[in-house]
Amino acid sequence: MTDIRVFTATAGDPALVDALFALEAECFGAEAWSRESVRSFIENPAVTTVYAVVENAVAGMASAIFVSDEAEITKVAVATEYRRRGAARIILSELEARLSARGVRRLLLEVRETNAPARALYESAGFTVLSTRAGYYASPREDAVIMEKFLPR
Ligand SMILES: CC(C)(COP(=O)(O)OP(=O)(O)OC[C@H]1O[C@@H](n2cnc3c(N)ncnc32)[C@H](O)[C@@H]1OP(=O)(O)O)[C@@H](O)C(=O)NCCC(=O)NCCS
Repeated sequence: MTDIRVFTATAGDPALVDALFALEAECFGAEAWSRESVRSFIENPAVTTVYAVVENAVAGMASAIFVSDEAEITKVAVATEYRRRGAARIILSELEARLSARGVRRLLLEVRETNAPARALYESAGFTVLSTRAGYYASPREDAVIMEKFLPR
């Protein structure tokens, strides 16, 4: 993708919260977090959120919450008009670099079993399937696939 820039989200930026909330609503529909949840998540010191800017618009994001040397990737989202241009791969890679710099060595995530784009993204980024959680998701009820990746020291 041409001209994609990735930044770390910081607290106290209402315009960024608005943009990330709009992205959340577009990408997750009925499962989208509220604007307040997006804001408080960014402000959580155990969370790293990165976002991508393309053509002066917030085009995508990824976030993770970490404890010690483990982190759980909570979201990866790219706005529809910017998909299939490598944005998510760049965003995920930047998130991994920031987490690695904070001492994270093991990444975990959950993904809906039928979310083929996300599963393909994670597999191509080096995640492997660890296990499944039956009926983990609601509306529609669906199993979660748990994936992991180890970051080099
Ligand atoms: C999943 C998602 C983040 C991918 O974003 P993207 O910017 O389009 O992904 P990229 O262009 O970086 O693709 C990287 C790789 O992921 C895989 N991939 C992405 N979209 C895919 C699709 N629709 N079908 C199959 N594979 C796909 C491919 O392996 C791709 O590599 P390739 O283009 O060389 O084949 C995006 O589709 C999205 O926001 N979906 C809705 C939110 C969501 O489900 N997030 C994940 C759970 S939190």
